[in-house]
Order: sequence, then C-alpha cells, then structure tokens
Amino acid sequence: MRILVTGGAGFIGSHLVDRLIKEGHKVAVVDDLSTGRRKNLNPAAKFYRMDIRDPELAEVFQEEKPQVVNHHAAQASVKASVDDPFRDAQVNILGSLNLLQNCLRYGMGKLIFASTGGAIYGEGLDPHQEEEPPYPISPYAVSKTSFEYYLRAFGQLAGLRYTILRYANVYGPRQDPFGEAGVVAIFSYRLLAGLSPQINGREEVGDPGCIRDYVFVSDVVEANLLSLTQGDGQTVNIGTGIGTTTQSLCEKLIRIIGYQGEKEYLPPRPGDLKASILSHHKAKEILGWEPHTDLDRGLRATVDSFRPSH
Ligand SMILES: NC(=O)c1ccc[n+]([C@@H]2O[C@H](COP(=O)([O-])OP(=O)(O)OC[C@H]3O[C@@H](n4cnc5c(N)ncnc54)[C@H](O)[C@@H]3O)[C@@H](O)[C@H]2O)c1
Repeated sequence: MRILVTGGAGFIGSHLVDRLIKEGHKVAVVDDLSTGRRKNLNPAAKFYRMDIRDPELAEVFQEEKPQVVNHHAAQASVKASVDDPFRDAQVNILGSLNLLQNCLRYGMGKLIFASTGGAIYGEGLDPHQEEEPPYPISPYAVSKTSFEYYLRAFGQLAGLRYTILRYANVYGPRQDPFGEAGVVAIFSYRLLAGLSPQINGREEVGDPGCIRDYVFVSDVVEANLLSLTQGDGQTVNIGTGIGTTTQSLCEKLIRIIGYQGEKEYLPPRPGDLKASILSHHKAKEILGWEPHTDLDRGLRATVDSFRPSH
C-alpha cells in the first residue's frame, strides 16, 4: 500500500515507518522535526519536512496519492499544552483538520489516528473502556478528543474511513529521555548515567507515585498494522490492562541496570491523574490485537537501546 505517516521522525512514528517498510509498503513521511529527529528517519521512506498546518500539504497528497494516512504528528506534551493552549489547538486540531480535508479532497482510503487513552479518560483504578464518556482535563486531551469527534463527524458526513487508537503510556527505544513525560526513558537515562531516579510521590506517607499502563512500542506498531485493513469507524484502546506504580517501575529498572544509589522523591505533580489503565478487550475483539511484550522484557530492550555502547 501507499502510506503517508505524519510524525514519522518521532518516537512511535519512526518505529511504525520501519515496520511498514519491512512489510513491503511504500511510505512517505511528513514531519517538521520539531520534536522528531532526522536520524530516526528510515532512508527508504520519502521525507517531506513540513508542518501539517502547511497549505502545501495538498502537493504531498497529489504526489504520493496515499491509500492510508497514519497520523502521529502532534503537539504531544501535556505541559506545553497548558503553557500554550493556542499552539496545541493549532497543531492538534487545525493541523489535523488540514490533513483530514486533504484526505477527503484526494479520495484517500483511510485515516488512522494516534489518540490518547492516558489523558482522555478521568481518574479510576479499573481499566477504562472505550464507551466511557471522555473526561479531558488538559488542553492536550481536549484537542485530541476534539479531533476524534471530527473524524466521527466526517465518517457520517462524507463516509471517511478511520480508526482511532487510544494509546496508554507507550515506551521503548528512541523515546526522548529529556521530555517531561516518558518516564521509562527518563529513568533509564538517569540510572545509566549514575543519577538518582526522581519519583513524584510522597515517600513519608508511603505513596508509590502514579499508576500507569505501560505498553511497548512494537505492540503499538502492531495495532497500527492491523488497523490498515480492520477497525473501520472504531475507537480502540491500546493498553495492557495492567497498572504499575512509578516506584515499582523504577525498582524494576534499578534491578536491570544494577544501580547502587538512592531514589529521590519529589512532590506529586499538580494535575497528574493518580491512576490510568486501559482495557484492551475491544482491541482484541475488533483488531485481534493483544500486547505481547511483558513489562520486564520491554524494559530490558529499552535499557539496552539507551546503553552508551548502543
Ligand atoms: N508516547 C506516548 O506515550 C503517547 C501516548 C498517547 C498518544 N500518543 C500520541 O502518539 C503520537 C506520537 O507520539 P510520540 O510519543 O512518538 O511523540 P514524538 O514527539 O516523538 O512524535 C511526534 C512527531 O510529530 C512531529 N510533529 C510535531 N508537530 C508537528 C507539526 N505541526 N507538523 C509536522 N510534524 C509535527 C514531531 O517532529 C515528531 O516527530 C502523538 O500524536 C501523541 O499524541 C503518544
């Protein structure tokens, strides 16, 4: 298939591009390299350095005639969305709409959208189900939820084929260890450098930090592959259904790396949900998708990729 991947120089998008090329697809990438890296780009993909808001995106569609658009480009930082909600909305809503309009204009087959389950659902210890009403509490979650609604609207209005994948906390090689999120990358980097890991949780009251659902990047890529031909008109969680505290995650990494120093505790971050876990029952039913990488194996692969010799 001819596939256009937006955000293909980023963490998840670049793994997806590698796999699509391995499977024999013809891939083009649109990425403005704002957080993505040139070294992540697969040389077999045609690269357009371009903002998804750019009117010239139409020329990419004319040139590439994609049969599927896989949309991973985003302003993906919750903190940045709070600091600058205008920019967040411009990229995540208006940029995404620019893409959607080109899909409709050029009669493109299908749009697969990387949405978020970690941010869209509210607080809760039970795994979230897709039919729960969204409860976005950050501008980032609002912009992601908004574009989900646009997709459903144009599914009805214009017969647009789409699948929405709501990711849990994705981790793996190439994740940025210097961002505000991506705790696996941040801990791996710090522990390998001999720096203390910082847990947001109050040690004095035995608070082990937030509970999150960690899903390995190659499993996320697999869900995208399955969505090429399945899941039309569906919104599907991509998570493991298993919650892990920040402290337990940190201890696993300490064991893998053999770090001998202390852990550091910082105050909980305002606005962080206490717990977020995603059910994957619907993903199994609709896409035949299940996570295959258990946390220990995924963490070892991630740590190995962060070792200086790598
Ligand atoms: N990492 C996670 O845990 C997670 C969880 C839920 C959803 N997501 C979503 O998955 C997608 C990929 O996330 P990631 O973690 O790989 O982040 P990332 O920052 O590594 O990737 C985003 C990519 O989009 C590009 N980009 C940003 N703004 C752009 C613009 N205006 N025009 C063109 N390109 C632009 C960046 O340069 C980067 O390469 C995002 O849509 C994100 O919201 C990620």
